[in-house]
Amino acid sequence: MTRRVAVLGASGGVGARVARLLAAQPRTDLRLGVRRPEAMPVPASADGRVEVVAVDARDDIALSRFCAGVDVVVACAGPSWSLLDRVARAAAAAGAASVDPAGDDAVRASLSRSLVSGCAVLSAGRLPGLSGLALRCAAGGRRPGVRRSVLVHAGGCDRFTWAGASDFLAALTGGHGEPNAMWRGGRAVSGALSPRREAVVPFFDGVVTALPFLGNETARVAGAEGLDEVAWYNVFGARVASYLSRVASLPRDALADDTVVEGLLEAAALDAFGRTPHHTFTFEVRDAGEKVRVLVLRGDGANELTAAVAAATTEAVLAGAVPDGVHFAAEVLDPEAVLTELVRRRMASVVDVSGDSAQSELVEEGAL
Ligand SMILES: NC(=O)c1ccc[n+]([C@@H]2O[C@H](COP(=O)([O-])OP(=O)(O)OC[C@H]3O[C@@H](n4cnc5c(N)ncnc54)[C@H](OP(=O)(O)O)[C@@H]3O)[C@@H](O)[C@H]2O)c1
Repeated sequence: MTRRVAVLGASGGVGARVARLLAAQPRTDLRLGVRRPEAMPVPASADGRVEVVAVDARDDIALSRFCAGVDVVVACAGPSWSLLDRVARAAAAAGAASVDPAGDDAVRASLSRSLVSGCAVLSAGRLPGLSGLALRCAAGGRRPGVRRSVLVHAGGCDRFTWAGASDFLAALTGGHGEPNAMWRGGRAVSGALSPRREAVVPFFDGVVTALPFLGNETARVAGAEGLDEVAWYNVFGARVASYLSRVASLPRDALADDTVVEGLLEAAALDAFGRTPHHTFTFEVRDAGEKVRVLVLRGDGANELTAAVAAATTEAVLAGAVPDGVHFAAEVLDPEAVLTELVRRRMASVVDVSGDSAQSELVEEGAL
């Protein structure tokens, strides 16, 4: 049977890549939604059809027409702080499921009130998304009676897109998690960690800044997996870190200003200059007996990883593997399956070492 998928924001960094991944799947009819169709290259399709249509997410009639007659709408238009659950609501009204690479707790709360049937999956990207799935893989499932603590470093070297930068800045004003907090004993502990500047972090290039952040996704996964401690650091290059410390205290309206967004784009471009884009997650898991397991995931750029997770989520929805309701990707997808798929597509490599070899890997990397 032919599957029908619509991708909104198909001209964007994430949307164009999602469109390419889905067009390569057999028996898939694709509808690509953009504001300027004349500027949109049409991806080569396996054997389905690809149509490009003009749609502005703020035009209710055009949006409901765009969502009509498809199985899944992938909502890649952004920034998310501005569009919120607008696309997911239009998809649900048209009887379609939706997948959003962004979408936070506020979007979930609002969507949960309006969704009467079908499903919507939020935070189906790199971080959040892959971040929570990889944490679940590293934790290895619930193990009652076994105390486990996890130290995480997440970050990389890449440019931002406009919507990605705008959403990132909007998140600084709260609602996504708490800076300097960690997960301990079943709850968030404020102020437990401090930023580490000019740090050398195993598996990351050069000197970096590691900023502690307990994201809502991390707290949810830590609780569900029964982890005793999670200390999570987001790792940034020097220019992005210094820019963030300058703008962090600005009010929300000022952070949405074009010049502030442009400043972050420029800082990230300078940090990434001359380097191959990459993103790395390292998870160092210790149990009470001080046994160590290290899982390292290194992947392509943020948009590639985000698009891969959004496409994998779309496949899971099409396969009927996602129940009705509003979900976060990290909680509803099979983490092993997503990581395996990323490796199979050569978008990421995963190293999983435990026991003595983990200890020696860390010694070699200068961590212990
Ligand atoms: N979870 C994660 O790790 C992660 C990572 C990256 C991105 N994201 C999220 O993914 C979303 C897309 O990011 P991106 O990197 O692809 O950003 P981007 O490259 O700036 O693309 C944004 C897209 O949205 C479209 N758009 C904006 N307003 C629209 C409207 N009113 N109607 C229709 N289309 C509209 C733009 O179309 P035009 O070409 O017409 O301007 C463009 O195609 C954002 O919400 C971002 O936060 C999540």
